[in-house]
Amino acid sequence: MSASGAEPVPVLIRDLAQVASPAGTASPLRGAELRAVDVVADAYVLCADGRVAEVGPMRRLGPLSGDVVEIDGRGLSAVPGLVDCHTHACFAGDRVEEFSLRAGGATYEELHARGGGILSTVRATRAAGSAGLASALARHRQWMLRAGTTTFEAKSGYGLDRDTELAQLQAIKDGGGVPTWLGAHAVPPEFSETGAAAYVDFLIEEVLPDAAQLAEAADVFLERGAFDSEQARRYLVACRSAGLALRLHGDQFTEAGAIPLAIELGARSVDHLEATGSAGVAALSASEVVGVLLPASALFLGRPMPPARALVDAGAAVALATDFNPGSAYCESLPLVCALAATQLRLAPEEALAACTVNAAHVLARADRKGRLTPGYDADIVLVAAGDWRHLAYHLGGDVVHTVVRGGRVAWTARA
Ligand code: NIG
Ligand code: FE
Repeated sequence: MSASGAEPVPVLIRDLAQVASPAGTASPLRGAELRAVDVVADAYVLCADGRVAEVGPMRRLGPLSGDVVEIDGRGLSAVPGLVDCHTHACFAGDRVEEFSLRAGGATYEELHARGGGILSTVRATRAAGSAGLASALARHRQWMLRAGTTTFEAKSGYGLDRDTELAQLQAIKDGGGVPTWLGAHAVPPEFSETGAAAYVDFLIEEVLPDAAQLAEAADVFLERGAFDSEQARRYLVACRSAGLALRLHGDQFTEAGAIPLAIELGARSVDHLEATGSAGVAALSASEVVGVLLPASALFLGRPMPPARALVDAGAAVALATDFNPGSAYCESLPLVCALAATQLRLAPEEALAACTVNAAHVLARADRKGRLTPGYDADIVLVAAGDWRHLAYHLGGDVVHTVVRGGRVAWTARA
């Protein structure tokens, strides 16, 4: 391997049982396109300068000159590095106590209303300091990497004050994540008297100018007990004017207008959709907005699954993500999410793969370089510990990730 910082030595992954990649070059994929996966059997992938240089069958592999790191791919298959386009990975502490209470019957919304839930993570995150946040994020990022995630988004939203929101965004950026400003996640205790509208004023006036320098997108929790449609519109319009792309947490518990608002404002995505009915499915499917499905969150909270099959059949662009956070989805594994997609959302493994690679990269405006194993794309690759790549979705909670290559370097491997 080359010294860190220098261009990596070319890497040849040879004798792979399969290389699988979403077909074509367009994004996002929708409807029937989501099933189109190119599979090359008995294959190799050559990476150079951090990019994919060649993909093909072994019989076409020409002679290589100079230094090359060879990886033995026998018995393995390769898929693009996974892209997690919705996480809350920058948090301190945990909520295992609340988890136990929920197991005994308390609901997520009740705990939130009692000042627990998101607000308990806010207390821990405010107390962590910048160094504490950086180390928590680094730990979570390593968990994600071991599960095959080579690109991750992470949201703020556990500071809910100016300094901690900005510290979260800075920690995410420094930790190699794609930062999303989720200032409008919950109303903090300082605004319990004045209310959500006054908190939105504060966010726009006091935090947005600096948050817009750090974040790529803004997000809002549009839900009963959080922010209503008018407050969400005001926040998002201001964020859009400051140059941020828009995302929404919508239809998690109730349909409170997130899909129409996302379409009206040209948002990149609306995420959750567990409560979405047929009118929402029709509207979203006819729009450019990506529906981000979070089945680990629905499972973790014992909620209904989002109408994934109906969305795809109606021609929607969907992505899959973990929603990794301490309250509603303590789960960093996109392979597990793929298994839930196949078993609970009735998506084919091909659809699940496209949803957590190319379509997730599209949500993060990175689909020109990430989400496919095609020459010119970033050399972000997951070696699946099976000769058929579909084990990614099939092996429920198994150790299915064998090796992770990121930017043309081995970033993690199970190989001794
Ligand atoms: O996407 N629903 C709002 N936000 C997160 C949960 C955050 C938390 O519980 O800490 C979600 O589920
Ligand atoms: Fe979320």
